[in-house]
Amino acid sequence: MEMEQLVALCKRRGFLFQSSEIYGGLNGFWDYGPLGVELKRNIREAWWRDMVTSHDELEVPPGAPSAYEMTGLDCTIIMHPQVWKCSGHYDQFHDLMQGCRQCKKLFRADQVWEMLRESDWVQSLATTCSPGPSHDLLCVDGLLLLKWAKGKGRKVAPGLALVRNPEVTLSWLAERIEQGVDRPIALTTILQYLATEQLAATGLQTPCPCCGGDLTEPREFNLMFETHTGAIRDESSKAFLRPETAQGIFVNFKNVLDSTRVRIPFGIAQIGKAFRNEITPRNFTFRSREFEQMEIEFFCHPQTSAQWYQYWRDRRFRWYVELGLAGDRLRLRDHDPQELSHYSCGTADIEYAFPFLAPGQFGELEGVAHRGDFDLRSHMEGKLVRRGDQFVVEEGPDGKPRYRGSGKDLSYFDDQTHERYVPHVIEPSAGADRAALAFLCEAYSEDEVPDENGKPTKRVFLRFHPRLAPVKAAVFPLVKKDGMPEVAREIYRTLKPHWNVFYDEKGAIGRRYRRQDEVGTPFCITVDGQTMADGTVTIRDRDTLKQWRVSKEDCLAELRERLTG
Ligand code: GAP
Repeated sequence: MEMEQLVALCKRRGFLFQSSEIYGGLNGFWDYGPLGVELKRNIREAWWRDMVTSHDELEVPPGAPSAYEMTGLDCTIIMHPQVWKCSGHYDQFHDLMQGCRQCKKLFRADQVWEMLRESDWVQSLATTCSPGPSHDLLCVDGLLLLKWAKGKGRKVAPGLALVRNPEVTLSWLAERIEQGVDRPIALTTILQYLATEQLAATGLQTPCPCCGGDLTEPREFNLMFETHTGAIRDESSKAFLRPETAQGIFVNFKNVLDSTRVRIPFGIAQIGKAFRNEITPRNFTFRSREFEQMEIEFFCHPQTSAQWYQYWRDRRFRWYVELGLAGDRLRLRDHDPQELSHYSCGTADIEYAFPFLAPGQFGELEGVAHRGDFDLRSHMEGKLVRRGDQFVVEEGPDGKPRYRGSGKDLSYFDDQTHERYVPHVIEPSAGADRAALAFLCEAYSEDEVPDENGKPTKRVFLRFHPRLAPVKAAVFPLVKKDGMPEVAREIYRTLKPHWNVFYDEKGAIGRRYRRQDEVGTPFCITVDGQTMADGTVTIRDRDTLKQWRVSKEDCLAELRERLTG
């Protein structure tokens, strides 16, 4: 499946729209349409039900003696600014950014090469040069480069040094690669040469993925959106839109303990919006500036945290598999030991091979992290920094904590063992929008079915798991007469209190089936001539196209069994 096909379907059928589209859209922001909102709600509800309200409390990992409890929270998006100072986001939640001196566009430094490879002008340049033994090696010919720079290059890469000043750049190139006609050079090397006019003065340049111009040195860019609370907009009223939902859970840890009877081990779950001022939002909704997270902070005894980490890593992976993301497009990737913090027994990412990525590449759906006692301690004592293999409170020039913690005791007292300790935390942190995108990509299917004249025609359908399908069933009268619409409406009204169902009486029946297939409706119920004679209707399965008859009174029970069975 090409990503463009899915993007077009999402717009055509009302899954996703660009935010503020009538004003040209706003980069990194997306609106969910009538079907998209149902899909995302079903994902959130499946997560909440499976993780919180109906989790299997008898499931415990080996070595962790007690069953666990789960509870929920819904915290504010804007929190006390000290939260972000102690959590480390205020100082450290940044990406390295580079800007183009010519076209002024901004890029995440770690994405520049990947974007260059995909850019139109690099593709055009690469086809001008002859390929070397591998697709990343090129044989360059100065004359061809000159021709490209004076022709196509002016349009596609006006900022490139080779285009602005071809002779100077080519003379550098010739010198540096020993008159390198026909010698294979790595694409990355040739691009740097072609972006550089005055090597002695500037050093090799990385070109801009959009226009080929010069990029600035990487500089830090904090991803938190800023705002102000109250009427006066100064430093003292500055606040931030939360970049993750997790911190709301940590700062409410004591409130939850004091107001409920939960005992460790237990988890607190939250679903909510998070905001990050991403430098280069891209790949449809994958990297957005406003998105939704589904996070659990699971509190446990330090001695059993390794087992609970394994449990959550496996449980969360299983959740995606159960909802249809099976196969080799889904993987669980453990971080290498050298990627881990010293306190951490592990971090794993659940990843999906999204179709917009290069073959063999995966994008993160969810991270499962063992966070030790880092977060609760930060909110007790102040922002922590690493010193050797310890985390200690960071000090300011006056020797006092750089950012003061709450000073509240966030430890846990076990009244059965009489032990007091700061719990360890396992954090499964998922993105609802990335999950929705992965379920859409996985569901997209095509096959061939005969049309009304028996001619094979392409059918596009979304093979959603029934729990996620935005519409669970559609009800049609075969024709708009002979009492069929009345019977169909009656069935529709019987089903509607239970699920999101759809009634349609317009157009040829084949077209109506196709429209439901395209949005992933698992079942279509049709009232026809036989219904009027014997009271039975047909039920059609979206994936197998099989049809069978049931009594119209049994539609509710039949669907219940098939949707939940
Ligand atoms: N509390 C931990 C945390 O926030 P993260 O890996 O930064 O960890 C967790 O984010 C999940 O949130 C990611 O796995 C992804 O699904 C989602 N996410 C993060 N940034 C996103 C973005 N810009 N757009 C859409 N989803 C995003």
